[in-house]
Amino acid sequence: MDRRQFLTSSALFAGLSMAGIPAMSFANTPRAADDEDFWRIIQGEYDVTGDIVNMEAGYWGIMSIPVTQAYIQHTHFVNQNSSYYARRLYRDDYNKIIARVAKKLGVGEDEIELTRNATEALQCLINGYNKLKEGDTVIYADLDYGSMQSEMRYLKDYRKVNVVAIAMPEPASYENVIAAYKKALDDHPKCKMMLMTHISNRTGLITPVKEIAAMAKARGVDVILDAAHSWGQYDFDFQDLGVDFVGFNLHKWIGVPLGVGMMYIRKNRIHDIDPFRGQAGASSDDVRMRVHTGTMNFAAVLSIPDALDFRENIGQKNITGRLRYLRNQWVNQVIDNKNVEILTPQDERMYAAITSFRIKGKTSREENMDLMKTLTDKYGIFTTTMGSINSGSGIRVSPALYNSKEDANKLAAAINDIAG
Ligand SMILES: Cc1ncc(COP(=O)(O)O)c(C=O)c1O
Repeated sequence: MDRRQFLTSSALFAGLSMAGIPAMSFANTPRAADDEDFWRIIQGEYDVTGDIVNMEAGYWGIMSIPVTQAYIQHTHFVNQNSSYYARRLYRDDYNKIIARVAKKLGVGEDEIELTRNATEALQCLINGYNKLKEGDTVIYADLDYGSMQSEMRYLKDYRKVNVVAIAMPEPASYENVIAAYKKALDDHPKCKMMLMTHISNRTGLITPVKEIAAMAKARGVDVILDAAHSWGQYDFDFQDLGVDFVGFNLHKWIGVPLGVGMMYIRKNRIHDIDPFRGQAGASSDDVRMRVHTGTMNFAAVLSIPDALDFRENIGQKNITGRLRYLRNQWVNQVIDNKNVEILTPQDERMYAAITSFRIKGKTSREENMDLMKTLTDKYGIFTTTMGSINSGSGIRVSPALYNSKEDANKLAAAINDIAG
């Protein structure tokens, strides 16, 4: 029995709907972000605990019900067929999945490889980038993800380069972020490679990648892009960004089961990333030799098309509109409160779902741990403290499609209540 036959005939799962085949597709229909009747249907596609309002989708994305069902089916199938499936049939499924993902991003099938998460992809890219010579400079920003900053610092010993950390401006604006990178490049003419984060995990800031990457390229500086949070959170044309090395997550905003990320290397740049520790000779031009995951969660990989179906049926523009609407819904109710600081710019080019705030003057981690606890215990809203930015700590809020307008209102009322 092949996998599709199994999926459609399994008695165990009879009665469950097939993932990605909802009654209607909304993708080509623009949906108002405040069309609560429509978005209630989408909310109904998520089975989320009623014990707490979860506005911490930034950690990873809850799967929709159709994706969960498909994942259960794939898990059952993989478990039943075990190594027979993995050794005989998986490669064909994998190739089809790669083809679909590549088409979606507008890249070649030989330019991407699945990983277990964005961390794995980015570690291999940062470590594997082999164009550095002793005495060169690499740059990262203090707003980059902590473990990627460490990975960049590791290059000091590993590649014998100068590692420079720049401070992102606060408050950030489109112009001052570009200016900060320009200054960094001006100040460090020996820079050869730069880490950039597309959407910050701390503040939700969207970096103007296209402009900065073009500026870097003109000076012969390569960008390694951390896109752990961006794919799926907002709509952008990937090719338009003009970056050659990227680490993605599929288990955050694409809504794939936990355990799937992706590496992208532009075809003509493949030799600038070392094959993974002896995996192949330096002449190998196979992207799959740039990371070694070991055994992947096959069922999670098989769920990628189901997650893409689900999202495509809603439409990325509709999804982005709704996420921004939920964000604006709480932010607009607290932004005029003089005791509240919004730590993410109001410029629509610079935010999507995630935005952070603090109660004015409360900058320590402890104060924000207390605030997170109060929001959870007293108001029933789950958020998280964010890692510090220069001005201190705060609370990160990340709504998702399963949140309602009422959830955002509840958060705004809680913040105003606490802030006074
Ligand atoms: C900006 C950023 N980069 C990288 C990562 C790593 O993602 P993962 O833990 O899924 O590998 C995260 C995780 O939250 C992140 O926010």
